[in-house]
Amino acid sequence: MLLSTSTLLASLVAAPALLAAASSPSPVARAPNIVFIIVDDQDARQDSISTMQNVQRLLVDQGTQFSRFYAPISVCCPSRTSFLRAQAAHNTNITSVVAPWGGWEVFNEKGYNGHYLPSFLQDAGYSTYYTGKLMNGHTVRNFDRLEPEGWTETDWLLDPQTYNYWNASFSHNGEPVVYHPDEYSTDLVAERALGHIEKATANPDKPFFIGVAPIAPHSHIGIVDHTDQILFDMPQSAPRHQHLFKDVKLDYSRASHNPDHPSGASWVKKLEKLNVTNVEYIEEFYRQRLRSLQAVDELVESVVKKLEEKGVLDETIIIYTSDNGFEANAGHRRQPGKTLPYEEDINIPLVVRGPTVPKGLVDSTSVYSLADLGATILHLAGAVSDYDNDGALVPITKELRKTIDAEGVKQHHLAEYWVEGVGEGKYGQGLVLTNQTYRAVRVVEGDEINFSYAVWCTGEHEIYDLNADPDQMINLAETAVRSESLIKLQHRLDALLLVLKTCVGEVCRNPWKTVFPDGSVSSLNAGLEKRFDGYFADLPKVKYSYCDIGYHRRLEAPFWYDELAFNPKQKSSFVIQA
Ligand SMILES: *[C@@H]1O[C@H](CO)[C@@H](O)[C@H](O)[C@H]1NC(C)=O
Ligand SMILES: *[C@@H]1O[C@H](CO)[C@@H](O)[C@H](O)[C@H]1NC(C)=O
Ligand SMILES: *[C@@H]1O[C@H](CO)[C@@H](O)[C@H](O)[C@H]1NC(C)=O
Ligand SMILES: *[C@@H]1O[C@H](CO)[C@@H](O)[C@H](O)[C@H]1NC(C)=O
Ligand SMILES: *[C@@H]1O[C@H](CO)[C@@H](O)[C@H](O)[C@H]1NC(C)=O
Repeated sequence: MLLSTSTLLASLVAAPALLAAASSPSPVARAPNIVFIIVDDQDARQDSISTMQNVQRLLVDQGTQFSRFYAPISVCCPSRTSFLRAQAAHNTNITSVVAPWGGWEVFNEKGYNGHYLPSFLQDAGYSTYYTGKLMNGHTVRNFDRLEPEGWTETDWLLDPQTYNYWNASFSHNGEPVVYHPDEYSTDLVAERALGHIEKATANPDKPFFIGVAPIAPHSHIGIVDHTDQILFDMPQSAPRHQHLFKDVKLDYSRASHNPDHPSGASWVKKLEKLNVTNVEYIEEFYRQRLRSLQAVDELVESVVKKLEEKGVLDETIIIYTSDNGFEANAGHRRQPGKTLPYEEDINIPLVVRGPTVPKGLVDSTSVYSLADLGATILHLAGAVSDYDNDGALVPITKELRKTIDAEGVKQHHLAEYWVEGVGEGKYGQGLVLTNQTYRAVRVVEGDEINFSYAVWCTGEHEIYDLNADPDQMINLAETAVRSESLIKLQHRLDALLLVLKTCVGEVCRNPWKTVFPDGSVSSLNAGLEKRFDGYFADLPKVKYSYCDIGYHRRLEAPFWYDELAFNPKQKSSFVIQA
């Protein structure tokens, strides 16, 4: 059979399951290799990725960059779980880095080990490799008892020294832990990633997935000499990068930078203005983030070179992303950290290159998340999860882009959080950041609609118009005089959040279809029509009974139920269930 390359590639992506199952070992007729590089705590908002020359040259220029890409929950282990399961955090109920709310032990208790991305990829015929950090709570004490399933070969970075840049603890394939004092963590991860490429390409019959997870630019966590005391400090760079970025300053021009008036909600609103010493500390912290990323930049170059040397660069999709964002500009008077629903905390880099991925494209309009990316990798690999996952397909290839041309891009993101915030850095560690449960939705539609909306367990609401107020300083939901149109907008945003906060599967991908089953409205913009004012005003509103640690349904009523859907024939409003 003679097919043109483009037809072949199209069918490769359209029906990967069939191709993966085909017996012919033809080098073209199979699913793509995937190299997945996930860094730790790199935000998109401060654009640190622009300081990474190799990432720019080898990934951004050669592929597609998504500027509205988000973390489902702004903290490491929960967000990684959302990716690995292609699920929203309210469906994994992994909501923290520690038990009983999250961490590797709880991941296992919930039965997720063996029912996550690598296992599904193996079932689809992939060999699977991973080096670096999997998730919090995967430790030197439990790594052999609770071995991660689904991997061909692994090199795990293990707690409690995962975030120690200078004494990494690795287990190779579940063998006893080896410490590496005085070696730089990211370089050790890079070395192992190259080893995995060697191994994977030695077996040309199988497509491969290689996960590479360095810790940069996460805070350095060391242990104070001769004590159990943990030291949460700025990231550390390789000595060869220490001289860089000496003149880099924070962006003092941003409205959110250490403002004269309090802003935000909950504990953020109670923060005092930072003193000069503290701001200077954050400035150096930020420079250290940039410096630590330079070793990752070199890692990216070495990975691309190795793939090229092995002759597989053109058949390998390379994905670069982060697990969550990070605030490091003294925004809202904050110490360095993550966990909040602001852009710094949730907006993360995503760059993809590879076969049929458009070159040099910057997609600033579609809105996707790590849960979606997990689902997309499954799709490209022809793999399937053994439960109804929540992820939509991120349009990374030309073929997926054609689908969204027909069906529309995803234009909303649900950001969730339960449990407590985490203070980082010298002045942040030890801060008690309670009352930190919220659901938030980010909506981007064309040039006009660019909102974020959050409902907090404290009863507070936040609405920001990011076109007018990119720093999220003017909370429209709490201004003294609220216009009629703003109240109407809030009713719509709240309805979207009500549907999303317990969504499963298709409802997460297409929430408007749940509100308008007849398909008459499929965007916030369309829902703004006046004739729906009464309907949206009458819907029950998202709220919490009170703030408590953990995700407890009893505190989160009311919930969406199908009878709430818009019914054009029904004149009277529905009965609100207690
Ligand atoms: C590295 O970590 C191990 C395990 O905690 C410890 O025994 C060793 O002393 C550390 N080495 C250095 C140089 O800090
Ligand atoms: C500045 O603020 C930090 C954090 O609150 C505090 O520990 C420090 O003592 C303050 N320094 C000065 C010079 O006021
Ligand atoms: C948490 O929020 C409640 C309102 O839900 C408030 O009464 C309480 O003071 C808050 N606690 C802290 C530590 O901010
Ligand atoms: C929405 O707001 C963000 C933050 O200001 C801005 O970067 C972006 O360009 C705006 N528009 C879109 C379509 O995302
Ligand atoms: C989530 O997990 C916690 C801890 O096990 C549990 O208390 C809570 O009920 C769970 N929430 C839901 C909605 O299942």
